[in-house]
Amino acid sequence: MKHLLVTGGAGFIGSNFVRCIFGKYPQYQVVVLDKLTYAGNLENLKDVATNPRYTFVHGDICDAALVDKVMQEYGIDAIVNFAAETHVDRSLLEPASFLMTDVYGTYVLLEAARRFEIERFLQVSTDEVYGHIEQGSVKEDAPLSPRSPYSASKAGADMMVQAYYISHDVPTFITRGSNTFGPYHHPEKLIPLCITNALDDLPLPIYGDGRQVRDWLYVEDHCFGIDVVLHQGKVGEVYNLGGGNERYNLEVVQAILKLLSKPDALIRHVADRPGHDRRYSLDSTKLISLGWQRTQSFEKALAQTVQWYRNNEAWWRKIKGGEFSQYYQKQYGQRLANPGSGQIQ
Ligand code: NAD
Ligand code: TYD
Repeated sequence: MKHLLVTGGAGFIGSNFVRCIFGKYPQYQVVVLDKLTYAGNLENLKDVATNPRYTFVHGDICDAALVDKVMQEYGIDAIVNFAAETHVDRSLLEPASFLMTDVYGTYVLLEAARRFEIERFLQVSTDEVYGHIEQGSVKEDAPLSPRSPYSASKAGADMMVQAYYISHDVPTFITRGSNTFGPYHHPEKLIPLCITNALDDLPLPIYGDGRQVRDWLYVEDHCFGIDVVLHQGKVGEVYNLGGGNERYNLEVVQAILKLLSKPDALIRHVADRPGHDRRYSLDSTKLISLGWQRTQSFEKALAQTVQWYRNNEAWWRKIKGGEFSQYYQKQYGQRLANPGSGQIQ
């Protein structure tokens, strides 16, 4: 395995993964195929742009002819699929692109994997496919019970991956990661939104009572987990990849404010997200038994992340000044005009 196709490699986790691969495997060639949607950003990859082992192809994973051309031209022997529409809130506003990219796009890649008889196909999935977990932690054989258009699309993709393994012997692997954070995270998501808003003394919108639980995973640990599954995983298997850091949203936001020496008064409880999953929780013992472990504590990783956003203002200001400002108005305008509409318990 030497020629890796990383789809969605210009996004948050994908770009960190490309760096991880270059640092660890000096013999690997990496082709990034990315549509550069609002979430894709070539600046995320600017430090690898001149690496002779790196090629960027601008395009859509739904474009079967383009995918075939890339497979052939670069002799691809493994695909790691990060390409997806990823934001739950946007999936509530505009679900069609989620179905197209997350489900149909994954199918296009699986077809290419089958016809080109590649060595490995790794689907980057999410803990959200299990739905909301009231108690305990879920293992990989738990039923899929997605509750948002985003998680339903990701679950659809997971099912198609399983189908290609069973029906066509495509050597597949699925990782189901938990909420990830770190450098290059788009400011639409909770942690970077709160860091960047707080830096500007803007209100931090917390949906409902803020006592929803997410299991936070540092992006480097997420990339390491994918690397372990890609190289040591068992074909056809699913691996949970959880941060082991379950926190209330409110706790996370308060920790960010503390790191920035900003007041809790910036917090605004606003109208909740429809169908908001209350808690996610993964049992990752299967992956840990392959040798994966988390390298950073949540507190240290959060402090590093806050520092990264302090040091990279130009990166996030450019994003927040573009299409994002219209999205922000649509998503938060009414909510912030009526603070206190969240149910505070
Ligand atoms: P992201 O939104 O930052 O990046 C997605 C990338 O995919 C962007 O570069 C975008 O341009 C590209 N893309 C979108 N549609 C495309 C298409 N049709 N063809 C080609 N490229 C396309 O996402 P992320 O947070 O880096 O997530 C990457 C993957 O990890 C996703 O599959 C997501 O479901 C999964 N995941 C994310 C998290 C998280 O907390 N961020 C957790 C678990 C799993
Ligand atoms: P998010 O980063 O969107 O990830 P996901 O919905 O995939 O878990 O949200 C993380 C948590 O933070 C989730 O419970 C929703 C909540 N949240 C807010 O309270 N306010 C916000 O403005 C955002 C974006 C998220």
